[in-house]
Amino acid sequence: MIIVFGSINLDLVVMVKRLPHPGETSAGPDCQTFAGGKGANQALAARRAGANVTMIGAVGNDSFAAPALANLEAASVDLSALRRLEGATGIAMIGVESCGENLIIVGSGVNARVSADWLAGRLAPDVTLLMQAEVPLAQVSRAMDLARTAGARVVFNTAPATDVEVAQLAARADVVISNESEAADVAAALGLPGEPAAYAAAMAASGRTAVVTLGGDGVLAHDGTTLITVAPPVVEVVDTTGAGDAFCGAFAAALDRGANLALALAEGVAAGSLACTATGAQSSAPAAADIARLAATLRVQQN
Ligand code: RIB
Repeated sequence: MIIVFGSINLDLVVMVKRLPHPGETSAGPDCQTFAGGKGANQALAARRAGANVTMIGAVGNDSFAAPALANLEAASVDLSALRRLEGATGIAMIGVESCGENLIIVGSGVNARVSADWLAGRLAPDVTLLMQAEVPLAQVSRAMDLARTAGARVVFNTAPATDVEVAQLAARADVVISNESEAADVAAALGLPGEPAAYAAAMAASGRTAVVTLGGDGVLAHDGTTLITVAPPVVEVVDTTGAGDAFCGAFAAALDRGANLALALAEGVAAGSLACTATGAQSSAPAAADIARLAATLRVQQN
């Protein structure tokens, strides 16, 4: 089973012709609200991909809490360990331009007060602990310690932060997932080569599986012996928000059910690609059957 320890947000999304530069304003039509947060998005993606998922995080006691949780509740993600704290639910203000590219500003709210203590008694060797860097890194670090003691597998997505502390956490995970720019930052912080395949091989040489998502170029990964690449399908991109989260959730769900790395990567790429075809980070998270169908058509290379 999968436990996600991470953020829960309400996303306030405006579609704009062009994203603003600093000091500029870009206007669009109605603001749309969607459930979001990297933790919640990945929990939902893993659940839709077929895993049993527990979400551990926090919402506030404001009116944003219910819509932020609605999709997780509807999908039967286990929320029994979730905390409802005095304060504001996390929010993300998101601009999406016509090519699908986005710009995100996060107000952390109670996500800044999550505690690894909430994982107590829940970690075991059959658990995949899936985390991101959108909650306090000290708590992610403590959660990694608890997982190590319990024998649970740690899958760590370095998004959205790319500072030295994130790189140090990346170097402790069993599986680390980064996009290209995050991977370059982790590489720089750890003194590793910055080119994606060389970075992944260097990370894998120290005992972990390293995955680099390459946007429109698919994904590559190294597990210490093999470099695997997966080419993406052609899809009509509407909104890339949450595509990385869909990848992480579906990928973790595949690993959790015992799939090999190549299949898990193909399913992650299929989920991430399908997630780009609709607005909103969670609305587009695909179901297991759709993921499997598309994954079977993808070109996987192993060297
Ligand atoms: O990865 C996309 C997510 O980042 C959004 O849902 C937003 O909440 C931010 O956390």
